[in-house]
Amino acid sequence: MLTKSRNQNASPDRSVIVLTGAANGIGRATAVALGGRGYRLGLIDRDAEPLSIVRSDLESAGTNVAAEVADVREGESLKRAVGSLEATLGPTEVLVACAGVGGLSSAMDLDLDGFQRMLEINVLGVARTIEAVLPGMFARGKGHIVGISSVAGYRGLPWMPGYSASKAALTTYLEGLRPALKRRGVRITTVYPGFVRTAITVDTPFRRPIPMLEPEQAARYIVRAIERRPRDFTFPLSTALGMGLLRRLPNALFDRVMDDAGPKALTTEF
Ligand SMILES: NC(=O)c1ccc[n+]([C@@H]2O[C@H](COP(=O)([O-])OP(=O)(O)OC[C@H]3O[C@@H](n4cnc5c(N)ncnc54)[C@H](OP(=O)(O)O)[C@@H]3O)[C@@H](O)[C@H]2O)c1
Repeated sequence: MLTKSRNQNASPDRSVIVLTGAANGIGRATAVALGGRGYRLGLIDRDAEPLSIVRSDLESAGTNVAAEVADVREGESLKRAVGSLEATLGPTEVLVACAGVGGLSSAMDLDLDGFQRMLEINVLGVARTIEAVLPGMFARGKGHIVGISSVAGYRGLPWMPGYSASKAALTTYLEGLRPALKRRGVRITTVYPGFVRTAITVDTPFRRPIPMLEPEQAARYIVRAIERRPRDFTFPLSTALGMGLLRRLPNALFDRVMDDAGPKALTTEF
């Protein structure tokens, strides 16, 4: 399904950004922030109704925007979606691969179906999205791919081993692609958000309230990553420092910290 809109006031020079996971949460807020900065936006999500709402909100605000319903697990439908968006907006200059799912798991409930879903969406789904835009970027000799990973992929976290593994896989996948893409003019930025208040985190049974960014705050950081094009970008600073330290802890010390924190953080059986 293609829904499209052109706005005469939209800046013709701003890049075309294709964004997956654009109907909700961080992706939606990022689309709104990018629209406010004059980018042309191609939105993709599997959630038709909220996608159509964000598209029409952006259109009312003067953004040149088109939207396509597609599931990032389906390569052919993704390619068709990207083709339709590009026919409307022009070639994709930036891809923001934001579609993702979360989920808790533990030794008491490994939830392997959930784990499989996370691998299919968070890892293969991003790979399929990259596959859909890459031929065009190679032909033009330029492009920027922004992958939304997570600090949960820095190390194996005991409340979400499946989610941690999916984000670690995504991070190393993007790292592995980097040199060959660079030779062909395509840059990769890997983004590592801390906690953001969205559907993914809202039902997490934390024992104590923990600080979370609002999606609009996360979006401002992601806009910075899109425009500055760093190799890696972690936000907010407190998370970058705290999780950066955790990432560098020697294994024995990391295990001791997690032995202690594992049973304490959530109300679920550990
Ligand atoms: N929230 C956090 O604290 C946090 C922290 C670090 C990283 N992240 C990452 O940030 C990204 C966005 O997450 P969010 O927190 O904004 O979650 P969200 O509010 O659930 O938004 C994710 C969007 O992606 C869509 N999506 C999921 N699977 C899809 C698929 N197979 N094909 C197409 N679209 C799909 C979702 O649709 P449905 O509603 O139908 O699932 C939803 O619209 C994810 O990659 C997540 O892992 C989030």
